[in-house]
Amino acid sequence: MNVQQLKQQFTEKYGENSAEIRVFNAPGRVNLIGEHIDYNGGYVLPAALEFGTTLIIRERQDDEIHFYSTNLSHEAVIKVEDIGKEKSGEWIDYPIGVMVEIIKAGTSITKGYDLMFHGEIPNGAGLSSSASIEVVTAYALLTLEGGKVDTVEISLLSQRAENQYVGVNSGIMDQFAVANGAEDHAILLMCDTLEYKHVPFRTGDYKLIIGNTNKRRGLVDSAYNERRQQCDQSLAILKEQLPSLSYLAELTPAQYSELESALGDDILKKRTKHVVEENARVLASVDALSSGDLQAFGELMNASHDSLRDLYEVSCEELDVMVEEARKIPGTLGSRMTGAGFGGCTVSLVHENDVDRFVQEVGAAYKERTGLTGDFYVCGVGDGVKELKGEA
Ligand code: GLA
Repeated sequence: MNVQQLKQQFTEKYGENSAEIRVFNAPGRVNLIGEHIDYNGGYVLPAALEFGTTLIIRERQDDEIHFYSTNLSHEAVIKVEDIGKEKSGEWIDYPIGVMVEIIKAGTSITKGYDLMFHGEIPNGAGLSSSASIEVVTAYALLTLEGGKVDTVEISLLSQRAENQYVGVNSGIMDQFAVANGAEDHAILLMCDTLEYKHVPFRTGDYKLIIGNTNKRRGLVDSAYNERRQQCDQSLAILKEQLPSLSYLAELTPAQYSELESALGDDILKKRTKHVVEENARVLASVDALSSGDLQAFGELMNASHDSLRDLYEVSCEELDVMVEEARKIPGTLGSRMTGAGFGGCTVSLVHENDVDRFVQEVGAAYKERTGLTGDFYVCGVGDGVKELKGEA
């Protein structure tokens, strides 16, 4: 749906008034490599997608905030003074959590608003639909209330909304990628210091294909928290050997080999080995992409998946089958799960001549082996959050 149609839908829903209708957009994200690294203080390499969440917003003459979505069923009205008073367990907790954090950070919400969200990211697919709702809300409200519009601060504020208000203990990667993406560039983010740089993502004749397993990520919250605890446990043990260590991802593979035996427990060894090696793979990926060595980048993607499956143990049958079938297509350079795991999406780098074959053959084999229908999106890398001005 284009912006004009969305604006029309907005006025059909909320009626006409003289205040200006403003339009903002934040993308979803795909993580290219560096999985389960953000909360371990290392490097990740996500990229913003070309589709995301559009927010149409207009101020009201009273103190009511109206929430409506074109793709999510719950609707609500709250008063400005009631922001944050009651959690609903619905999607509106994301924008309300952001409002709570905006107020805590010193910008008042001084008036009521009509909000209409239009999401194009499949929910629960691990492509950060929630981060995109949070970031677009923060960016729009800070703009309209005259607050400081800083995309790094917006990422942190949105992460706090998710951690504290919604109650999901996620790292910084998703919100950061959604807020700071740049067209045709991946983001190399150092999650401890939040230093980042845009790395040109030039793939020539190769395309990114996102494969949605359509397996709902059932176990994800409890397993995610369990992985985080295991990493904290490893860190505490390794700190006894190396007091200067503040995050697991700081360890080089060589340092890790020397310290590994101190961990004792096999599970902790597997989790830590993944973190240390995955972090090294991110840096190797940036080298490979910078020198145009897509073959090497593809191999690193494959190694990342295998490690998430065997060491970090956050894959699942559906993801493994889709990756396995993807790798059978001759034009596939690499294929891996992306995001938290236990369902959600894969990402593959595939020669453009093989894209149709990929979609057909991987789709058919996936259906036959799992009984589920996969969805495939051939996608480019888009921009981070912004106001749509000319386009609107
Ligand atoms: C989810 C979390 C991120 C990150 C990834 C795994 O997407 O929201 O913070 O930890 O999982 O890499």
